[in-house]
Amino acid sequence: MFKQGRVPRIDGITLHPSMPCNLRCVYCYTVDRREKGVTVRFEQWKDIIRQAQECGARWVLLAGPGEPFMDERTVSYIDYIHSLRMKPMVFTNGTFLTEAMIEYLIDRKAHVLVKLHSLNQAEYNTLAGSSHTGIWEEYVYVWRGREHRVSIPRWLKVFLHRLSAFEPAERKKYLSVESVITRYNMQSLVPLARFIRAHRLGYLFETVITRSDKQPSGMALSAEEYRAIYGRLREYLGIGFAVQQFRRCKIRQNPVVWEDGTVGSCLVEKGTLGKIQEHSLRDLWRKQGGLKPGAFLQKRINKFRHCPGREYSRRCGMP
Ligand SMILES: C[S@@+](CC[C@H](N)C(=O)[O-])C[C@H]1O[C@@H](n2cnc3c(N)ncnc32)[C@H](O)[C@@H]1O
Ligand code: SF4
Repeated sequence: MFKQGRVPRIDGITLHPSMPCNLRCVYCYTVDRREKGVTVRFEQWKDIIRQAQECGARWVLLAGPGEPFMDERTVSYIDYIHSLRMKPMVFTNGTFLTEAMIEYLIDRKAHVLVKLHSLNQAEYNTLAGSSHTGIWEEYVYVWRGREHRVSIPRWLKVFLHRLSAFEPAERKKYLSVESVITRYNMQSLVPLARFIRAHRLGYLFETVITRSDKQPSGMALSAEEYRAIYGRLREYLGIGFAVQQFRRCKIRQNPVVWEDGTVGSCLVEKGTLGKIQEHSLRDLWRKQGGLKPGAFLQKRINKFRHCPGREYSRRCGMP
């Protein structure tokens, strides 16, 4: 794909420096990774961030494999990313977001993608595999002249209150709601999309990756069900939402570094480029064009199945 020797520039990089997690999401694809030890050290992660900047990265996504805010080093990474004038982005289950942390994240112009599969705590807890998902409270909002009464985590209420100080169009720069589409929460996605639209938040709906045998089968929807759900979500989220653009996915187009230093390009590519402990990011990324779609791609039942839907990330704050 790329001429030998030529290093394609990168937009950003996805890192996995944080191991522990307080939840046990039934669909989680990083469970196996979290059982291993991290081999990349704190200073090495910072070095990778610096190398990414030299290769042209404008954003750095902290994506696990556990919960970033259970890891006290996450704020150091965010500070460092911010100091290099790149955009920090974090996937989080939200349970550690305090008012002070939200303030800190806004100050660092970080983009937070928070997990919210449902506006119903019982359903959320089923997917989270835990009943320790914090305090949920009643919340009332108005959408197109109608009052909607829902239940949301308290930290989200605090975040929304803080964002109300911004112009509506600015809010999605700071906060996106991320939701994995499974059989358990498919009925909840439309109320969730309405909530997202009413608050002008970013969003990321991901098709569930059923990669590991440990994950319960039957969580993914059938092709017809996916199409029906996408049709309904599109009513709230706009026409671009239903367009599958796998080849333009931002995560896939850029390097992903796993907790053990393995560098790849997303989860759906076969093989890896090598270890960051042994080669520079620039040298590893030079080989990026040689990656082949993974076996996992063969498992798809339709075009929505194989990709976590991250092609929509451009709508949720990625520069
Ligand atoms: C592994 S989590 C780590 C960060 C954080 N703990 C969280 O849940 O946001 C990173 C992202 O992967 C998503 N994810 C986990 N398992 C998945 C699966 N089987 N299919 C699609 N997305 C998945 C999560 O919802 C989250 O958005
Ligand atoms: S919160 Fe994130 S890392 Fe933890 S189990 Fe759920 S998806 Fe996996």
